[in-house]
Formats: sequence, structure tokens, C-alpha cells
Amino acid sequence: MTPMLYRATFMHTPLDPFREADALHVQEDGGLLIGGGVIRSSGDFAALHAAHPDAPVTDLRGGVLLPGFIDTHVHYPQVRIIGGLGMPLLDWLDRCALPEEARLADATYARAVAREFLGGLARNGTTTALVFGSHFAGAMDEFFDEAATSGLRTVAGQVVSDRMLRGELHTTPERAYAEGKALIERWHGQGRARYAVTPRFSLSASEGMLDACAALMREFPDVHFTSHLNENRAEIQTVRGLFPDARDYLDTYDRAGLLGRRSVFAHSVHTTDRELHVMAAHHCSAAHCPCSNSSLGSGLFPLGRHLAAGVHVALGTDVGGGTGFSMLKEGLQAYFMQQLQAGDRVALTPAHLLYLCTRAGAQALDLQDHIGDFGVGKAFDAVWLRPGAGSTLEAVLQHADSAPGTLAALYANGTQADVARVWVGGDPVYDRPHTPSGTAV
Ligand code: GUN
Ligand code: ZN
Repeated sequence: MTPMLYRATFMHTPLDPFREADALHVQEDGGLLIGGGVIRSSGDFAALHAAHPDAPVTDLRGGVLLPGFIDTHVHYPQVRIIGGLGMPLLDWLDRCALPEEARLADATYARAVAREFLGGLARNGTTTALVFGSHFAGAMDEFFDEAATSGLRTVAGQVVSDRMLRGELHTTPERAYAEGKALIERWHGQGRARYAVTPRFSLSASEGMLDACAALMREFPDVHFTSHLNENRAEIQTVRGLFPDARDYLDTYDRAGLLGRRSVFAHSVHTTDRELHVMAAHHCSAAHCPCSNSSLGSGLFPLGRHLAAGVHVALGTDVGGGTGFSMLKEGLQAYFMQQLQAGDRVALTPAHLLYLCTRAGAQALDLQDHIGDFGVGKAFDAVWLRPGAGSTLEAVLQHADSAPGTLAALYANGTQADVARVWVGGDPVYDRPHTPSGTAV
């Protein structure tokens, strides 16, 4: 297959800016040579063009090319209920999320929701997502089928619970195991799909249910695990009452054997030092969801304490407790919330925000050898941010005098409208439509 040469100013974070200096790599007028969906060579455009004169050139000058965004916590069945404001977590679940999730018992409804959800990811430049699925196995088949059509990378699983939600959403440990096994055998490793064992949270999962999840993890050791942890004080209090023998919330998962390097815990707002220590020892990740934490009033994520304990942190939108699919907005909100920390503030730079939206997510999914940056050998998963003509972002970018300044402007001003094109494994998965006047919509 003839390699393609992409010409663009690109930025990426092949290093971790929380640990290393100069983590932001910038290539002005750069080239990326793509063959078989993989980056074969990268550097200065003129030099690459001279070395590969026959490679067709795709000109992406204007704007910035970034690695595709990686959303490490987002709920597929909640796309239609984004924007339920004014409630704390448990009320919001009862009034907004769970009634909608019950509707996915209907496979036709589920397929339409899946399509809207995947469209929302692609339009916002998200190329990989760790997706909290539906309680219904049929809705997961619809999801994985639609995901294959979309071209996106998804790590997703059926959500399982056996108490305290609504009857329609409950299952038994035996059924959860059987349906999970069938879904893993059908979908895990098929194309760009992977499976994540997903008890909703310990509040809605008995010990028997967590044991059924652990049995799946033992039988299929390369699948992922995800759940919620320490999001809201009333939730934590309830979990304490349900697991009187557990040391704390994390221990409810740990005792079942659910902690590992592919375990991602969403929120982790009120996590204790003991829990952080155990998470780090097991190489678990936290998915920080700042828009959701703000909207549901869950609290200020203690990023500094996670980092000090050695817990890996990535970002998630938490749609629909979160307020949309934009990882740019999520990064900006993460920055805002650090600004609001009374003590223990982590001063996030634009490089940190890019890292949290890209390579950090790849590492949380243990996919850092395949995606997350523009290193040679990585898949060409990319988002081309090019502001719409006449937009504020276009004006601001014209005056940015440094790469970090450009990135900061993208985070402060960028929206879905600025996402011009998106690729996964070299395949285009989104192309911004244009109005007749040429203005982006
Ligand atoms: N905890 C259990 N379920 C959910 C959910 O759907 N959203 C959030 N934010 N937290 C949860
Ligand atoms: Zn969530």
C-alpha cells in the first residue's frame, strides 16, 4: 500500500509532563508518513517529502494536528440526558440516568442511542473511549456493531448490578457471568473493540456480583475493568453500610480481586491515602471527570495527592453526568478546578492538558504502545483542529506566539465546531461538513 504523507503543524506529548521536562513535542510544518494506518516516519515536512517524493501529500496546514483524544469514562446510554442540572449523584441517577437507561431494553432504541453517542465522540475528536455500557446484553451487541461501523476504538462492557437501582436494571451474578462471557467471546479483540468488565459501583453490586466479575477477569485476563469509586459522600456512606467488613470503598473491589493495571476507577474524589497507596501498588488508574464533578457537586479531585501517591490519572467526560463530549472542555475544567484548590494545587500547563487528553488515557487502557502520541510505530489516530472561518479561536490563534500559547488558546476557545477531521488507524472517521459559504458548522 502506498504510504501517505500528512503535512501539518503537529504537537504531542510522548513523555509524561508530570514526571519529565520538555514533554511537549512540537513540529512546525511537519510531516507524518503513514502506511497501513501506522506512523512510519515523522519530522520536518520538506525532509520527509524529499525522502518520499512519490507519497501523495495531504495538506493540513492551518490549525494544529493532535493525537486523537482518549476519553476514559463516558456512558453510552446517557447521551440523551446530558444537561440534568441541580442534583447530587444519587438523586440524578434516580431521576435522570436510570429511567433513560431502562429504555435500552429495546434494541432498536439502543441502536439509535449508540449511533448518537458514537457520533458525539467522533465529532469531538475522541478516537478511543472507555465506555460504560448498558445493563442489557442486547444493547451491547447493538453498541459494538455500531462502533465497528463508526471506526472508533472502544473499550466497553455490559454494566451489571443486582441491587438498589430499578428492578429492570438488575440481574443475577450467574446471568452477569454468562452474558459477559458471551459478549467477550463475541466482541473482545474484534477489529477495534475491546471488553471491560463493568459493575456499576459497589453500591449496586453485591459481593456475589463482584465475584462474578472477578471470575470473568480470571478467565479472560486481557480484558479491562472499570467502575466508580468515591464520587459522592452519600454514596460512600451507603457503601460503608453495605460492606461492613471492608476497610473502605476501594477494598470492596480489592477483596474481590478486581484491581490491576487495566483497572480504571472513575471520579476518586474522596479517596483516602490508604486507598491511593493500594491503587498505586496495583497500577490502577483514576479517571478524573471534572465537568461531572462540578455539575453534580461531587467535589474537587485531589490530583496532587493522586500524583504524590503514584496513581496514574487520565480524563473522562462522564457523559451524561458530565456536560458533553469535548475533551478540550474537560481539560479546561481540570485546569479550573486545580486553580480552585485551597492547598495542594497542581499548576496544570497546556502540555499537561494535552497529555491528560491523549497519552495518559492510552496508558490507563494499557494501550500506550499503540496509541496516544505520534511516535513511529503508533497508529495514526489524530484530530485536526482548524478553527472555523471568522471564529474567535481563529483570531486568537493568529496572535499566539508560542506552541504552549497555541495549545492554551485551543483549550480555552476550542469546541466541536473546530474539529475539522479525525482519523483512526489512518482511516477517516469524521470530516466536518461545510456550509455553502465555507463556514464550519
Ligand atoms: N455512579 C454509578 N452510576 C453512575 C453514573 O451513571 N454516573 C456517575 N457520574 N456516577 C455513577
Ligand atoms: Zn460515570
